[in-house]
Amino acid sequence: MSESILVEGTTREEKYASLLPQIRALVEGENDLIANLANIIGAIKEGMDFLWVGCYFVKGNELVLGPFQGPVACTRIGFGKGVCGACWQRAETIIVKNVDEFPGHIACSTESKSEITIPVFKNGKVFMVLDTDSRSLADFGETDRNFFQEIALIIESLPG
Ligand code: SME
Repeated sequence: MSESILVEGTTREEKYASLLPQIRALVEGENDLIANLANIIGAIKEGMDFLWVGCYFVKGNELVLGPFQGPVACTRIGFGKGVCGACWQRAETIIVKNVDEFPGHIACSTESKSEITIPVFKNGKVFMVLDTDSRSLADFGETDRNFFQEIALIIESLPG
């Protein structure tokens, strides 16, 4: 495998287009889910320099912190709580332009200004929430939704 992630392009769309095949190559031939998630998250963090990129697993009636990169985060989030819990409950992508305006937002870092959460499905149910935080307000839109939903499909296709 390659030694590091090299993201080409100037627009975010171009950067994502350059990142996606590298992420697909990273997970090819590896069947351990945690190892693959750790590398996918590392590649996005390194390639895009967001504040925080990580995942929470559905465990019982809570989300529990999984692989991530960025500041330390809260370990458990209840069903429907915060942006991640709402993503799990609604089973849909949530884009938050200003975290201070999202009722019940859970602030893990004061540096986080906007956020995108994506549900990842297994057997028709949410089994994981992919969460990304930005240092800038209104940093996420349709380009990011498309990219992260593509990442969710990659994760859904992984063994383990
Ligand atoms: N802000 C999230 C909590 C997780 S951290 O951002 C890493 C939420 O409201 O669910």
